[in-house]
Amino acid sequence: MREQEIVSRLETKWIGREILVLDEVDSTNVRAKEEAAGGAEDGFVVLADCQTAGRGRRGRQWSSPAGENVYVTVLLRPDFEVDKAPMITLLAACAAARAVRNLELKGARMPLIKWPNDLVIGGKKICGILTEMGMKNGKVDYVVVGTGINCNQMRFPGEIEQKASSLKLEYGYEVNREAVAASFLKEFEDLYEEFLKVNSLAFVREEYEALLVNKGRKVCVLEPGKEWTGEALGITDTGELIVKNEAGEFCEVASGEVSVRGVYGYV
Ligand code: BTN
Repeated sequence: MREQEIVSRLETKWIGREILVLDEVDSTNVRAKEEAAGGAEDGFVVLADCQTAGRGRRGRQWSSPAGENVYVTVLLRPDFEVDKAPMITLLAACAAARAVRNLELKGARMPLIKWPNDLVIGGKKICGILTEMGMKNGKVDYVVVGTGINCNQMRFPGEIEQKASSLKLEYGYEVNREAVAASFLKEFEDLYEEFLKVNSLAFVREEYEALLVNKGRKVCVLEPGKEWTGEALGITDTGELIVKNEAGEFCEVASGEVSVRGVYGYV
């Protein structure tokens, strides 16, 4: 990751105006949380060329080799209630999808979103987002939004080989990682600013649902201690997945403890 190339491409107003570009880090999320503890401001960004302990959701690892992908974390210091934080993660998924579209790559399909926030192409994951929150005196102290976009990685380790892909694998040519990162930050800033005005995802719901790979498909909802199936219909204005269960009832599934899988596989 070339700092100068990122900075020169950055069109944001405030996100990434304070930016740390590292050759190597354990995890950009962990580093962003450390910076938060040290007083870093709203919009602080950590980018790394490589992560030695990249973190995924549900305690999983995130494959983070050097020189190939984007690993970026945005630190936010929002003045809102805890229950709003999960919505940010859906905004980041939209921003990542826009960033890929902005590259105007020819040839392959555009990425779709697997609720709540994975980007997939042809059923394989090319981007993951891990949002973490810190509290102080019962209020949100910070939110870190960590996004990994698989750009030029050609091989994936072990069991994820079947499920993961990259832009280069899908489109057939190398993409400019700095361009992807800068475009993601700009799109995220636009979406987040709008979100702060309206405190809901209503303004982006149509765009999100148009990309929602689960829409109209049968999904398996994995709740702690309970599994059920239904048809995914879309999302609510606050980001829950609307699923019609087998009894014909409409249920709202919140992210967090619940995960959703396709009945026939990951999507
Ligand atoms: C997932 O499991 O889908 C979420 C993956 C999130 C990976 C990104 S890479 C940048 C940031 N730093 C981390 O350690 N994780 C996130």
